[in-house]
Amino acid sequence: MTSSLPALQAIAPEIVCLADHERRATEVLDANAWAYFSGGAADERCLLANRSAWDALPLWPRVLRPLAQGHTRIQLLGREYAHPLLVAPMAFQRLAHADGELASAYAAAALGAGFTLSTQSSLPLELPAQAVLGTMGRGPLWFQLYLQHDRGFTRELVQRVERAGYEALVLTVDAPVSGVRDRERRAGFHLPAGISAVNLQGLGPVPAAAPADGALCAGVLRHAPTWEDLAWLLEQTRLPVLLKGILHPRDALQAARLQAAGIIVSNHGGRTLDSAPATALALPRIVQALQNAAAGALPVIVDGGIRRGTDVLKAMALGASAVMIGRPIVWGLANAGAAGVAHVLRLLRDELEIAMAVTGCATLADATSALFDD
Ligand code: FNR
Ligand code: LAC
Repeated sequence: MTSSLPALQAIAPEIVCLADHERRATEVLDANAWAYFSGGAADERCLLANRSAWDALPLWPRVLRPLAQGHTRIQLLGREYAHPLLVAPMAFQRLAHADGELASAYAAAALGAGFTLSTQSSLPLELPAQAVLGTMGRGPLWFQLYLQHDRGFTRELVQRVERAGYEALVLTVDAPVSGVRDRERRAGFHLPAGISAVNLQGLGPVPAAAPADGALCAGVLRHAPTWEDLAWLLEQTRLPVLLKGILHPRDALQAARLQAAGIIVSNHGGRTLDSAPATALALPRIVQALQNAAAGALPVIVDGGIRRGTDVLKAMALGASAVMIGRPIVWGLANAGAAGVAHVLRLLRDELEIAMAVTGCATLADATSALFDD
């Protein structure tokens, strides 16, 4: 297990965009890891829809606008950050590279991007936190929480997260069960020896099922979190709690009413419910609903299929406060460890600045829905 800071690896010069990272990652990763990282639920319609929804939005450039004093800065949870890129929580990153989450966290901090560690991290949650908390100019450091069937265990996990220095909890609410993952089943996906959800060590099995019900209904779903558990969680922690995996505007309103600190519009990268709407469709509806309910100040983050600086700009123009990047981080990690992740983030940030310049946006406040209309 890695405990020192990751060594820097070189990036092949022909890798100039995130799609190049993806192609290279297919060569670097074995079929087992690729099935896990790349897959979506069932027929992968939602996975594809995420991408095509960003593509379908045109940007109407405006010219000769003043661009001097431009910047990509944003405000999030009361702090200012250099740009709106955050690393999405992704489990088992040591499947992609021996340095795993330590490398991603390190790269994110160096690039001023936010980092969210998954509950199912393959490294102890203290390690990435220790590596990055002192980094000047780093982005926010968050912990993604899956409420466990054992709420006592969950409470202790949250306390550990607080002690380690994480600044917010991201409660993922869209995956009471894993989706139907055909790719993983075809590949016979398994965690290799030495890779596991180490932060869940000591968690007992889900209590025995009631006999007559289906396996899920009798098992994990009896312990699936509800809105009441959000209230419970808010009592357990002093950290802000963002809800990740909201698509329906009514759920966004409920989250706002219950004092969530923010919303992450996400369909889990198309991995949970196939046929769920693309996040680029859900985002403006949620932003609008919150505005109508006078909750427009609540941060709304979006993820799913963001692969270009233009996608980031579109998300901001639809009202996002920041964006999360998922799979491309793993591609960079597989290709060149921390340097690969840093490269992915750097490419996106550079592309964002170019997209802003050629659409006439000096700052992200200038990115509004006017960009979509002539
Ligand atoms: C995820 N995602 C995820 N989400 C979460 O809340 N907890 C987790 O542990 C994971 N694990 C995970 C593993 C892998 C391999 C992937 C691809 C995704 C979902 C993730 O945070 C994010 O919502 C999506 O990945 C965003 O979509 P893109 O950028 O991958 O298209
Ligand atoms: C996934 C889980 C870990 O998407 O959230 O694989």
